[in-house]
Amino acid sequence: MRKQYAAANWKMNLTYQQGAELLKTVLSADLTLNENRLVLFAVPFPYLELANECVHQKKFYFSAAQNCSDKKSGAFTGEVSAEMLKSIDVPYCLVGHSERREHFGETNEILSGKVMICLTYGVTPVFCCGEPLQIREQNFQNDFVKKQLKESLFPLSAEQLLKVVIAYEPVWAIGTGKTASSEQAQEMHAYIRSVLEKQFGREVAQQISIVYGGSVKANNAKELFACGDVDGGLVGGASLNASDFIEIVRALK
Ligand code: PGA
Repeated sequence: MRKQYAAANWKMNLTYQQGAELLKTVLSADLTLNENRLVLFAVPFPYLELANECVHQKKFYFSAAQNCSDKKSGAFTGEVSAEMLKSIDVPYCLVGHSERREHFGETNEILSGKVMICLTYGVTPVFCCGEPLQIREQNFQNDFVKKQLKESLFPLSAEQLLKVVIAYEPVWAIGTGKTASSEQAQEMHAYIRSVLEKQFGREVAQQISIVYGGSVKANNAKELFACGDVDGGLVGGASLNASDFIEIVRALK
């Protein structure tokens, strides 16, 4: 069975105190997790050590950064490197969230560098892809996502790709309350898997976890996660509310 993930993406929300409270509440809930049913908390950089203190008390919960630099180290004021994340024991990092692509000019090429540097330091990249609304309206979403995968992930070896988690997040569904239907999600996830299969082989493609993101809520998670090629979710807004996020974790396969 592929690993299933419920990943919270707090984005730039919550004070330290609110974050601590939220972590405490989620971690005290009675959730059935195992090696293939995992929870991630992608928190702002200043809260990573707090998240680690909390998740280290239990198995199957992990901290994640929301971004890292594509550079190894050096004069890049304000940036955080993959090596720094590794040195404080952060096992996952979001790479190429659509908000980073849109507001911070992250290109497929830059993101290829970020994926590579994460892998170099043993941090698992959660590589985000997904099309904007006008591309979906023209029905070009497959070509658009294929290009993202090709330019950022095809430079990897099969062995490296096996260490990547993919998040499909249609931009039109992020923070809009307008989620993709389970048919739309399944169709794209199967397509992503077929693209990976052509490049890396069937065995590899079958092992990669592909999570869905974009207005995942307590009331739609079960249906989305039940889709054969959907391996859980990357959750923004609903992850800021403990009881909603707990329900979403319970909806994992
Ligand atoms: P949302 O965000 O759940 O608020 O739509 C998802 C994401 O951006 O990862």
